[in-house]
Amino acid sequence: MMHKELYLFVDGKPQKTVIRNYSHTDFDSLIDVQRASFPPPFPEELWWNKEQLAEHVIRFPAGALCAEVGNQLVGSMTALLVNMDDYGDNHDWETITGGGYIRNHNSNGDTLYVVDICVIPEYRKTGIGKWLMQSMYETVVQLGLRRLLGGGRMPGYGAYAHELSPENYLDQVISGERKDPVITFLLRCGRMPAGVAHHYLEDEQSNHCAAIMEWRNPFI
Ligand SMILES: CC(C)(COP(=O)(O)OP(=O)(O)OC[C@H]1O[C@@H](n2cnc3c(N)ncnc32)[C@H](O)[C@@H]1OP(=O)(O)O)[C@@H](O)C(=O)NCCC(=O)NCCS
Repeated sequence: MMHKELYLFVDGKPQKTVIRNYSHTDFDSLIDVQRASFPPPFPEELWWNKEQLAEHVIRFPAGALCAEVGNQLVGSMTALLVNMDDYGDNHDWETITGGGYIRNHNSNGDTLYVVDICVIPEYRKTGIGKWLMQSMYETVVQLGLRRLLGGGRMPGYGAYAHELSPENYLDQVISGERKDPVITFLLRCGRMPAGVAHHYLEDEQSNHCAAIMEWRNPFI
């Protein structure tokens, strides 16, 4: 189980922060974090519901992490175990996360697959997202897994979809020509691009596309 304390620098001031597994008593706060993190046009049905959160906690508690600053929950990250051989090349979020219920969690899987990561707007760019990601990397190493994998939304892509393919857009973000609020964040977290999924999630801002981004266990 994960429990760590650290100081996060918010406006230059250290603030005590805890990264830990979430449990039933956090569910209302986790849904508030989702509401604040995924405003319209993101579909409300994709915010966590309590039944999904209960499945995360029961099926794979090690993949259910949250970040707390003071007494406030400000971010969360959720993952399950899969074997990628069980899914096609161009997988989608619904299939690989069991619609967010993770009922397809495979305890023998070698890949820690990210279902979701979010941080509330007031605390963005203070390092919480990166600490959550770092904590999942530690989970990969702790469990002796091959890698972490996940589909990164590309919310900056929709505006260019009429002139660029998602692959070209991703190339431009990787070359530094453009910045994307999620893909640039993932690159800064050490994730490596491993392809593009074209019908990943109902997500207008990303024109429904996602960049599949990997982090390999450096010890395997
Ligand atoms: C993506 C998200 C989780 C990032 O969380 P965060 O706590 O703000 O990220 P951090 O502060 O840890 O940033 C880590 C690095 O990414 C960079 N970064 C973060 N947001 C960025 C942005 N919008 N544009 C460019 N770079 C960004 C930071 O500058 C930082 O770089 P550094 O390590 O070199 O200092 C957050 O913006 C979010 O919740 N977005 C909405 C939900 C969402 O779309 N989630 C992704 C689902 S696939």
